[in-house]
Amino acid sequence: MSRKTTGLSKDLAHWIQAKTLREPEILESLRKAMEDHADGSMQTAAEQAQFMQLLMRAIDARQAIEIGVFTGYSAIAIASALPADGRLVACDISPEYLNEAAKWWGKAGLSDRIETRLGPAVESLDALIAEGAAGTFDFVYADADKESSLEYYERSMVLLRPGGLFTIDNMLRGGRVADPNDDDPSIVATREVAEKLRCDARVDWSLVPIGDGLGIARVKCSEDT
Ligand SMILES: C[S@@+](CC[C@H](N)C(=O)[O-])C[C@H]1O[C@@H](n2cnc3c(N)ncnc32)[C@H](O)[C@@H]1O
Repeated sequence: MSRKTTGLSKDLAHWIQAKTLREPEILESLRKAMEDHADGSMQTAAEQAQFMQLLMRAIDARQAIEIGVFTGYSAIAIASALPADGRLVACDISPEYLNEAAKWWGKAGLSDRIETRLGPAVESLDALIAEGAAGTFDFVYADADKESSLEYYERSMVLLRPGGLFTIDNMLRGGRVADPNDDDPSIVATREVAEKLRCDARVDWSLVPIGDGLGIARVKCSEDT
């Protein structure tokens, strides 16, 4: 029993990674390959990716969107949690990152369920809406530029079905979100999306302190009380 979330010491964080992961070989290789990459810290934490897979399977997700792919760690985790005929729309602004990611999901045998959209993700989401995909997605993972978070959220609200999940990474910003003197625009944007999600009656909401903080909003169904 505890009335507070347990803070993670280095040892405890290590224990979680050593004793609770079921990381497949391809994801372990990709994680290790990014250890020396200049932007390797952008990769989603392994335990968080595993948790997202659990969420997806709990809602029987078949259609998903990722906003911010980098070299494909979370995309491979998400695509692996879909059925063989499922679809992940993977959005990124960088052709270099998308090309590298495609090599990894090719090795994982997942290319047939991942469709890439190159460009600013707001435009990619608008294009999906224009294509008639409103209400057809089960799961969204937003992990790109934080200043666009509210735009990603509002477009996801159009694209998700009732009962679908909008998830958003880096809600803790390494602790900076709680520093009242930190008024960096991207930190302010994270505080704004946290407040929006907390107050939005259209969704159930929780912030889970896993990785750098995973926000989870579930689109309410008409039969919800
Ligand atoms: C934190 S990384 C994503 C990490 C990835 N989810 C993983 O687990 O490896 C952020 C990504 O967002 C992309 N990005 C940044 N701004 C973007 C935008 N406006 N539209 C689409 N992608 C963007 C970057 O190119 C980068 O690949």
